[in-house]
Amino acid sequence: MSSESRIRCAALRERVMSAEAAAELIPAGINVGMSGFTGAGYPKAVPGALAERIRKLNAAGEPPFRISIWTGASTAPELDGVLAEVDGIEMRLPFQSDPICRDRINTGKMDYVDIHLSEVSQYAWSGFLGKMDLAVIEVAGIREDGSLIPSSSVGNNKTWIEQADKIILEVNSKQNAKLEGMHDVYYGTALPPNRKPIMITDPSDRIGEPYLACPMEKVIAVVETSAADRNTPFKAPDETSRKIAEHILNFFHREIELGRLPKELLPIQSGVGNIPNAVLEGLDAGPFKNLTAFTEVIQDGMLKMLKSGTLATASATAFSLSPEGIAEFDNNIDLYRDKIILRQQDISNHPELARRLGVIAMNGLIEADIYGNINSTHVMGTRMMNGIGGSGDFARNGYLSIFVSPSTAKDGAISAIVPMVSHVDHTEHDVKIVVTEQGLADLRGLSPRQRAHEIINNCAHPDFRPALMDYYERALHSGRGMHTPHLLEEALSWHVRYETQGQM
Ligand code: COA
Repeated sequence: MSSESRIRCAALRERVMSAEAAAELIPAGINVGMSGFTGAGYPKAVPGALAERIRKLNAAGEPPFRISIWTGASTAPELDGVLAEVDGIEMRLPFQSDPICRDRINTGKMDYVDIHLSEVSQYAWSGFLGKMDLAVIEVAGIREDGSLIPSSSVGNNKTWIEQADKIILEVNSKQNAKLEGMHDVYYGTALPPNRKPIMITDPSDRIGEPYLACPMEKVIAVVETSAADRNTPFKAPDETSRKIAEHILNFFHREIELGRLPKELLPIQSGVGNIPNAVLEGLDAGPFKNLTAFTEVIQDGMLKMLKSGTLATASATAFSLSPEGIAEFDNNIDLYRDKIILRQQDISNHPELARRLGVIAMNGLIEADIYGNINSTHVMGTRMMNGIGGSGDFARNGYLSIFVSPSTAKDGAISAIVPMVSHVDHTEHDVKIVVTEQGLADLRGLSPRQRAHEIINNCAHPDFRPALMDYYERALHSGRGMHTPHLLEEALSWHVRYETQGQM
């Protein structure tokens, strides 16, 4: 497709300029909405040009130039990385996974507001975050009437376009032109008390438009790009991931036998990473057919499942593919077009829909405690890793919430199962299943004391199991409360020991 045919609106073609010229239009101190979700569909040129501008200002000793950046979720080094490196980000939300960003957050140089991904648009509509001055949005094309063909993620773009006073569009010709028609942008959302039911009863339902509406008068610049999304290669599943996948698959088979899951399971939500990908591979190798996914991101494993017929439909807000995954998608897009729906994230992650559809939520954890509280975000209670992402949207509202992790981290120095988590993202009330390579703890219907036995015996690494059981038994007989026994003076001593001695 020629660049002219990507920008089919004559009036907006006149606003084409370089990324550097567009970056000059961004003033310091403002709130900027940017597209991007899990390394897909983020602007690839303007953030870099802005970072370069800031670098020069910093070198000239000018006052700090900083903006606040709101996105869909994580982006890429070309956005988060470059802007964090020049200390150009005042505040970031709602999710990131960039090492430089993480450093700035954990050294106190950047504020970070970690929000459930389904809730970000509500925050913005309600004015909790202040005014959005400008948005920078990547699209796959602009139609004759100025409406936009979304690219490889939808994320919060609908909200940003509605909320921002001014808009810079990046039209990326590297994005497959056949993405057109795959999106479903819903314009029926409202703030309470005016909300109506969202009429999705199956992941394949379409309720919106394939395009983003965009008031042309807001568009102050159009920048042409041709760069691929950040895409991280997947490692082949290792022994640990394979064992975790095996435990989950055995669990699914048992639940089907018991009549608690249909043979097509229920719509799957799967976090990104090697363990979720191993679970998807396991599902694909099994007897399953016509499964569905109601999730945030389409990863490599889901493409394979769609191709083989294991998966009939996948609803998400973004792709998150490896380079091979992108090639597979681009080469066979006609096969995938009708089976994939990309929605805005306030719909892909909507609690009402996760509950109605009965999603099976599978997400990673940093640590779980012996009662089933989960920490997904903080290392040793204080240092941010990535953020809660959509895990809370799906875990609290799904039919099953499954949390997965190797039983140890850092070559066995850290136990993923601890007496008390050093930060809580998902409470014991939201956590139904915990799985490590050691085994699976089914916590449904168990009291805290029963949970402790199930988690320690099934999930903890044998090196840590005796110490965990010893803690639990001493807490139980300490003369304190026996509902959720704890030794408060010792509950976080495992973390302190790791920080002071390098070993839990
Ligand atoms: N203490 C300290 N570090 C720990 C740890 C612990 N208890 N558990 C894991 N880590 C470290 C690992 O060592 C690894 O560090 P490295 O990158 O320096 O090697 C890193 O955390 C990632 O761990 P890994 O085992 O490779 O798991 P992962 O890539 O699957 O990530 C989470 C696990 C929890 C960080 C990740 O799933 C996450 O960010 N979750 C929250 C958001 C979410 O669930 N999103 C999906 C919803 S759609």
